[in-house]
Amino acid sequence: MFTVCRATAALTVWLIANSAAASDVQADKDRLLDSLVGQMTLQEKVGQLRMEYASAGPNPQAKLDSIVDGHVGAMFTSPAASQASLRELQEAAAQRSRLHIPLFFAGDVLHGQQTIFPISLGQAASWDLQAIGKSARIAAREATAIGLDMTFAPMLDISRDPRWGRMSEGYGEDTYLTSRIAEAVIPALQGPTLGARDSLMACVKHFAGYGAVEGGRDYNTTDMSARRLVQDYLPPFKAAVDAGAGAVMTALTSLDGVPATANGWLLHDILRQQWQYNGLVIGDHGAVEELIAHGVAEDGERAAQAAFTAGTQMSMRDRYFAYGLPRRVTLGEVTAQQLDSAVRQVLATKYELGLFDDPYRHLQGAPANQDQRLHRAQARDMARRSLVLLKNHDQTLPLSRHARIALVGPLADNAVDILGSWHANGKPDQAVTLRQGLQSGLAGKATLLYAKGANISDNPQAFALLADNQVSFDPRPTETMIAEAVTVARQADVVVAALGEARGMSHEGASRTDLNLPGQQRALLRALKATGKPLVLVLMNGRPLTIGDESQWADAVLETWFSGSEGGNAIADVLFGEYNPSGKLPVTFPRSVGQIPLYYNHLNTGRPFDPARPSVYRSRYYDIDDTPLYPFGYGLSYTDFSVSAPRLSSARLQPGQALQVQVTVRNEGLRAGETVVQLYIRDRSASVSRPVKELKGFEKLALEPGQERQVTVQLSPAALSFVDRNLRWVSEPGWFDVMVGLDSQTVQTASFELMP
Ligand code: NOJ
Repeated sequence: MFTVCRATAALTVWLIANSAAASDVQADKDRLLDSLVGQMTLQEKVGQLRMEYASAGPNPQAKLDSIVDGHVGAMFTSPAASQASLRELQEAAAQRSRLHIPLFFAGDVLHGQQTIFPISLGQAASWDLQAIGKSARIAAREATAIGLDMTFAPMLDISRDPRWGRMSEGYGEDTYLTSRIAEAVIPALQGPTLGARDSLMACVKHFAGYGAVEGGRDYNTTDMSARRLVQDYLPPFKAAVDAGAGAVMTALTSLDGVPATANGWLLHDILRQQWQYNGLVIGDHGAVEELIAHGVAEDGERAAQAAFTAGTQMSMRDRYFAYGLPRRVTLGEVTAQQLDSAVRQVLATKYELGLFDDPYRHLQGAPANQDQRLHRAQARDMARRSLVLLKNHDQTLPLSRHARIALVGPLADNAVDILGSWHANGKPDQAVTLRQGLQSGLAGKATLLYAKGANISDNPQAFALLADNQVSFDPRPTETMIAEAVTVARQADVVVAALGEARGMSHEGASRTDLNLPGQQRALLRALKATGKPLVLVLMNGRPLTIGDESQWADAVLETWFSGSEGGNAIADVLFGEYNPSGKLPVTFPRSVGQIPLYYNHLNTGRPFDPARPSVYRSRYYDIDDTPLYPFGYGLSYTDFSVSAPRLSSARLQPGQALQVQVTVRNEGLRAGETVVQLYIRDRSASVSRPVKELKGFEKLALEPGQERQVTVQLSPAALSFVDRNLRWVSEPGWFDVMVGLDSQTVQTASFELMP
């Protein structure tokens, strides 16, 4: 008792001291901000609201002059920029500008800086929040070491349309999974305090609705009900805000006719008022100027006003804040108070980043010997966890190390594409290809034969209009390349075909109308199948592909996304059984593009199709088996797991009470392995239709052969709520189904009643 009291007293003293320290910091910050804002000219204030390119451009002196004159507040930096160049810019701001206000530097570090981890969609497939957090921490350490203060990440756009190339940058189709990942990534990037030397501020993007562009065509219009937006698309951003994200980036797209960058409902009513967000809002690249093309501003001056008054505080690479805002202030269309409040926000961001204490905190001299500093072990671990085994007929996998393996395909020895899009400063010569990974995995015990077999696409011109268009093109006729691959396959015991997309195909500005394997890769796979050899398909791609035929032809299929610097080793680990695959799909794989959008948490409709009682007047496509090729949450292992029926702590739940759902999971096979227990609910009847299933909890666990574990997932009262017609989160009494399984399709159900 005594000890408890002493501990409580000590805690109270600590809390008082800490809150006193916090209020001192706040007072210090307020003093500094007041003093600076009080001294600034109109031009200097507007300058703080502008982010410009750090790269020298045609007139480096003019760039330095504009910084010295206080016309720029932050710099958009390529993650490959030299530290010396950034230091020169910072010196111009912190030493030579009138008020010595430092710049902050921001860049796109999405899945690693120098050590490249799997693309975000791949990381999501691990369902391993700890591993995802670790990779973000390493990215933050590497990025701050070369001068970055902020990353334009994570991307939290929910996407149900794989035609959209940017699906690769996010965490898939599910709101719950993406929200939990956001909660893991934000603190990992930002560290315990933003002022720490290796803390990188997160600028979450793209607020909001970008992932639902019509037809999956990048930058296209988004138009959806406010209810769906609030319920399905906004929660990951709310989770990031609650986790302390320092900045938010607006989407380039319009929502219900109002571009996000000028959307006061999103930026003010929801973000500021409802969520009490107190960080910085940055317009995406060129988003202010694009308000003219969107047709909501007549000219640049009005575009600047529309964006600014809606809540966009800083523009990225946009001249109109500079040219437009001062006049709008003079005309009284933008008030001095609005301007000062945005300027204070930018200054507060710099203060929190510790830049007033030390503007060079992230510019301490670039670390030498980058290669030795790579975090290879962690990259390999994350990559292994992200791989999803989609098929394994007759235990084709794992491969024997003594087998003669024919490795074929345009992605088999490809160090460029394996890094994925937004590969920051990841270098192909530091990446391990699948060929290299298999070679070292074989350790001289067997022979690895190789043939490229096909190009990714037959038409090099196809890449000309892609942002990331570095492709190697083999000029030989396809028939020659396929024939060579077949010859190699005939000499082998097993064929591994590494097929998929170039990294630039799953990127910004890279939407597709067809999701087949590009070029002649299908023909290559068919020819390999015809050899009769066991065939393993290793996919490298940034989105679901329509691989119905290919998954029939291949005996085993492994989805590897773009797996990063250590991808080749990680894939070899899985192919040889060194690591037992544990990934689960974070998106649904359709059979055909025509099914899109196809996602697991859809509404039931009034006429759901029941394959057991087929009928014409039911909701489905008649020309296809209208189920997913692979459902959300799906992924195999080299062992078998069983899950018991769910046991509920109560069949009648009082309002505000939590429900414990317990299952027994058992490893029935002969190998140790990991799996993900997934918990879904269905609200059977409510004032609005509720999805047939919604993920509300999961746990990844490791089990030895024969081992079993009780897994308890808690369903909080909030998990039962939804957005009603008045856009309020409510839960309504009635019956709920609880479904538990190892994917979203094969589940066992129990039910409970939420009492009034
Ligand atoms: C535009 C993209 O939409 C955004 O995601 C990115 O962060 C910026 N360009 C900066 O590269």
